[in-house]
Amino acid sequence: MKRILIINGPNLNLLGRREPGIYGSADMESCLAALRLRYQGSVEISYFQSNHEGAIIDKLHEVGFDTELDGIVLNAGAYTHTSLAIADAIAAIKVAVVEVHISNVHSREEIRHRSMISGVCKGVVAGFGLDSYRLGIEAIAAL
Ligand code: DQA
Repeated sequence: MKRILIINGPNLNLLGRREPGIYGSADMESCLAALRLRYQGSVEISYFQSNHEGAIIDKLHEVGFDTELDGIVLNAGAYTHTSLAIADAIAAIKVAVVEVHISNVHSREEIRHRSMISGVCKGVVAGFGLDSYRLGIEAIAAL
């Protein structure tokens, strides 16, 4: 059994209601339910969401040295583009982090092209809608 934590950053609690033309009309609860069903018996998926940079950092510290945790799928939302502190936290911990985005950030405004965290993550998945989370899980499971 693999163990994976999905962390969502700011505004991702509004999935399904937030700019559906960009992020789709499904919410995170149904995405999580579908993932848990799909990986029943093979991957245990836990979930954390916060709109606060420090809370995301605290969570990374809390789980980041857990030898039983196989990886973290992180959608840091807009903090992706701004947060050296989250990048430092990812660099500090032992557990592998895969950066995930629902939208293709590279086809959007220029400010979204830069990621502060890509360089300290194992890799990046972007642009596949909510399926980006599944692809992030697959990437960790294959490590
Ligand atoms: C996002 C892309 C970010 O630029 C944006 O700030 C988000 C969501 C995505 O999943 O596509 O909040 O990370």
